[in-house]
Amino acid sequence: MDARVIITKLRDEEHLSAEELAWFAQGLASGVVTDAQAGAFAMAALLNGLVRDERVALTRAMRDSGQVLHWDMPGPVLDKHSTGGIGDCVSLVLAPALAACGAYVPMISGRGLGHTGGTLDKLEAIPGYRGEVDTERLSRITRELGCAIVGASSDIAPADKRLYAIRDVTGTVESIDLITASILSKKLAAGLEGLVLDVKVGSGAFMVEMEEAEELAEALVETAQGLGCMTTALITDMNQPLISSAGNAVEVIEVMEALTGPQVSAPLWDLTCALGGELLALGGLAADAADGAGRIGMALQTGAAAERFGRMVTELGGPADFIDRWRDRLPAAPVQREVMPLATGRVAAIDCHALGLAVVDLGGGRKRETDRVNPSVGLTGLAMLGDQVSPDLPLAVVHAATPDQADAAVAAVRAAYTIGPTACAVPPLIYKRLR
Ligand code: URA
Repeated sequence: MDARVIITKLRDEEHLSAEELAWFAQGLASGVVTDAQAGAFAMAALLNGLVRDERVALTRAMRDSGQVLHWDMPGPVLDKHSTGGIGDCVSLVLAPALAACGAYVPMISGRGLGHTGGTLDKLEAIPGYRGEVDTERLSRITRELGCAIVGASSDIAPADKRLYAIRDVTGTVESIDLITASILSKKLAAGLEGLVLDVKVGSGAFMVEMEEAEELAEALVETAQGLGCMTTALITDMNQPLISSAGNAVEVIEVMEALTGPQVSAPLWDLTCALGGELLALGGLAADAADGAGRIGMALQTGAAAERFGRMVTELGGPADFIDRWRDRLPAAPVQREVMPLATGRVAAIDCHALGLAVVDLGGGRKRETDRVNPSVGLTGLAMLGDQVSPDLPLAVVHAATPDQADAAVAAVRAAYTIGPTACAVPPLIYKRLR
């Protein structure tokens, strides 16, 4: 086969066969396809789109470009994927809760992307935690503990690794078809039987408009199901942070509060139960999503999820006493500043994208791939939509490495909030479910 023929067909809106897409994905992984050809392919896919069968075939081919895990477990192999937002630390709570309910969760996670935080960066705020493990270790830990939250090793979907890097520099990241193939090739390489997708919509999401979020959710569900993975998607709100913190260690604090109580973020708890409920129903561990949500809630309440989380942290290099001593073990930033609102009133709108960028600027995320993340910086006490704010009720607390960085973050957070005289309509946590 010839990459030029495949690109020309895509350009001219001719149908590509599964064999052609498989050849192209293998060529991406092996290097037979050049950077220029990969960029042209991505641009043609973005401009002309793929039909359902092509999207399924491309996703399959990218999944199969590397190692694909196979399981023979006494319980279902399940996972969740979020399209990313601010304060979205659900994975850290959900994976051990699912494990405590009898599921197996080989959760291959990413680092921060753009303005959004990454699960792996949050976990690596725990001293010693190292999520870069090979697939053999991922399999062993999942088998033994029921869950492992790790990064994608180089043998998982190498075609995506290459295409993603090229999309990043060719203005082709936004293609719904390529986003779908990218997300699912990595997730499905973990050998999942069931997947729930948390597609975020709003000011802090990649999909700002509901129409785009629905299009992505539909493409993801249709493609994953086309590859034999039972899948549902929830479209959930990202017009305000999920929890009142954004950063790495500061989010782990809220995770530990949810796991060990008694102080718990209600949206974090509710979304974890909703997503977990869907998965337990898909995996046959619950009668339906409501029953599943109740089981996840019990796993959190009884401390069963906390116990799994503690064992996973230790297994991946973290402190053996983390569950009991997490307050002493997490790093803290040297400078803390309250962000006072410019006016007294109620929070009418939050630019969550700007909040995410403020965390990145503090050093809590990366501007370049090679940047080192500072685990201790971030925002806490974030005011939510409708909250009363005044000189006594700040918008947030900035945690910074230096006074200058704190000043810049205070200004950025203040600018991200719109204060109005009266309460606004607060959006629902979950807009809709797609099956
Ligand atoms: N996350 C991914 O893994 N790939 C995309 O294309 C977008 C988000």
